[in-house]
Amino acid sequence: MTVLLRVDASARLDRSITRQLTERFVDGWRSSEPGVQVLPRDIGRNPPSIVTEAWISAGFLPPEQRTQEMKDALAESMALIDEVRQADVIVIGSPLYNYGLPGALKAWVDQIIRIGETFSFDLERGDFPIQSTLSGKTLVVLSSRGEFGFEPGGIRDGWNHMSPHLRTIATRLLGITEGDIYEIASEYQEFNDERHQRSREQALRDAVELGSRLATLAE
Ligand SMILES: Cc1cc2nc3c(=O)[nH]c(=O)nc-3n(C[C@H](O)[C@H](O)[C@H](O)COP(=O)(O)O)c2cc1C
Repeated sequence: MTVLLRVDASARLDRSITRQLTERFVDGWRSSEPGVQVLPRDIGRNPPSIVTEAWISAGFLPPEQRTQEMKDALAESMALIDEVRQADVIVIGSPLYNYGLPGALKAWVDQIIRIGETFSFDLERGDFPIQSTLSGKTLVVLSSRGEFGFEPGGIRDGWNHMSPHLRTIATRLLGITEGDIYEIASEYQEFNDERHQRSREQALRDAVELGSRLATLAE
């Protein structure tokens, strides 16, 4: 049985396009694998805490040396990491905010990337001492943007810092290979015109199809 971690990062609730995309993706998956286990993590509604001095001090100490207070400082991180560990597939529904990750998504990333939990650090490895201790997961990024033209050669080529950032996190810190990363985006939301309608409908269709196809591959 596949475990699918569904992370919703939009601060909008009923009107959110990315929430509709994650919903459709899950529907598509369920159509091929009815027994899929979905772990919902709504970070738009309940944003994870940002890291603090207490969190960093505790996180970099070996577990056996942590006081109860330090363990408490890491409790949220441990719960979020536990979900990531269980997941075969991480599907993130996230808007583009100010050409980057919404704060809630960055806070979630900072909570789940932990020395001794999700990566190891060894200077014997030379210039790349960090290695993920996770592997074999799939990442699906379902995004929505108010503007358009972020593709290579487009009028906003190079302005979308969310996709490359998530890809670097996935490949460098979560042990996910480039071939196991999938992206779908709806655009033109701010224009609210026919182009938006077309883009949104296409993205919704693609999300169902991708969910169903990946579920079939996972069997
Ligand atoms: C705070 C904020 C910042 C935004 N920044 C951008 C941006 O930099 N580029 C862009 O194309 N759209 C931007 N948008 C538009 C959103 O990406 C768009 O509304 C998207 O549909 C939001 O996702 P949602 O429908 O799931 O809430 C921004 C929206 C908000 C609320």
